[in-house]
Amino acid sequence: MPDIRLMRSSDIQDILRIEQLSFSCPWPEEAFVSSALTASYVLVEADGVVGYIMYHNVLDESMIINFAIDPAFRNRGWGSELLGGTLQIMLESGIKTFWLDVRESNATARNLYQKYGFQLAGCRKNYYTQPDEDAVVMVKHAQQD
Ligand SMILES: CC(C)(COP(=O)(O)OP(=O)(O)OC[C@H]1O[C@@H](n2cnc3c(N)ncnc32)[C@H](O)[C@@H]1OP(=O)(O)O)[C@@H](O)C(=O)NCCC(=O)NCCS
Repeated sequence: MPDIRLMRSSDIQDILRIEQLSFSCPWPEEAFVSSALTASYVLVEADGVVGYIMYHNVLDESMIINFAIDPAFRNRGWGSELLGGTLQIMLESGIKTFWLDVRESNATARNLYQKYGFQLAGCRKNYYTQPDEDAVVMVKHAQQD
């Protein structure tokens, strides 16, 4: 199983490649640089970075703002490993509530989040572009573990 470690600025080129393969509207490099203050982790195996997850924490609440696994390494349980491992780190650091937005059609991610205790909390109409789509808002409370 690959290791989880904190994101470093030297990881950005690997992350940008995965980001571009994973999203129809990928973040530009500046977005990763300006998010440097977030709690961001990468999943690393022998050949390098295979995934990343970024949390934006405010007091005891956290928002997952980005999460992807390299398409060549999906469906091996590694997304689950990265999400589960970092949620545990966040819980141990005192986070009580987690939030996230996900495309309504993204059944893979929604199933994965549900597996880790996230529940439907609302909808943001036409939140996404390319293609236009609603966002499903999901929440997880620490005491529901
Ligand atoms: C979402 C993502 C990170 C999952 O990574 P992954 O390494 O393939 O996931 P895993 O192999 O750990 O699978 C974990 C769970 O995802 C769900 N899942 C995986 N593939 C699925 C599929 N084809 N259909 C439905 N659910 C699926 C299942 O719940 C699975 O758990 P299970 O194996 O116990 O049934 C990855 O698909 C990805 O990077 N997608 C593009 C970016 C993205 O959508 N990010 C989330 C934005 S909110």
